[in-house]
Amino acid sequence: MREFLLYSRLGRTEPHWSNLHDAGRLDIVYECIVTSLFLSHGLRRDVTFHAVLNGPPNPPMHLQINGEELYDVRTDIDTWNTILHKAVNGKPHPGVTTKKTSFEALLKTKAQTNSIYILEEHGKSISEIELAENPLFILGDHVGLPKNAERYAQRYGTKVSLGKTPYLAASCITIINYLMDVQERKQRTSGAATSF
Ligand SMILES: C[S@@+](CC[C@H](N)C(=O)[O-])C[C@H]1O[C@@H](n2cnc3c(N)ncnc32)[C@H](O)[C@@H]1O
Repeated sequence: MREFLLYSRLGRTEPHWSNLHDAGRLDIVYECIVTSLFLSHGLRRDVTFHAVLNGPPNPPMHLQINGEELYDVRTDIDTWNTILHKAVNGKPHPGVTTKKTSFEALLKTKAQTNSIYILEEHGKSISEIELAENPLFILGDHVGLPKNAERYAQRYGTKVSLGKTPYLAASCITIINYLMDVQERKQRTSGAATSF
């Protein structure tokens, strides 16, 4: 099981917007949803995506998208504009939920069951790390993770880098999914390998 958690500083917490970009950069949330959960012609059923939206008027809002239960979805922005609109409005869609939970409260709960990795350019190189089971990867939005959120996350997890090149959050998710796919294939064939 893999999980991704995006800290969205400005993502709007009420459903009145004309486009996802102007809704506190919910377009970044959309891009991360697609790279977390979609394969070509299929869904990653073993992935859960989380975003904590901290924009006005009702922050914080924990958006959870569970690949195991997700249904009736496509990758296009219009589909997700509609789903996010419903979710923020408290209306149901299979696999999509919202709760009033803060980043800190969510992380405290997740740390009991998941190994926490904070994606940050200046962290330890991912190639030097043996990823544990049930990893949860934390990402910042276009501005990056706020310092106080990063400090809090470091109580539970380790900073991990994909190199000095600053990638889009969604690109980081693609890279992690690829690396985890490779690792899992190796584990299936050798029964042991855990590093990249
Ligand atoms: C668009 S980047 C923001 C970059 C920005 N310079 C910053 O202050 O972090 C969004 C997020 O992607 C992740 N990220 C981007 N490049 C990374 C890298 N090379 N290694 C690890 N994480 C990265 C981080 O979590 C970052 O907060």
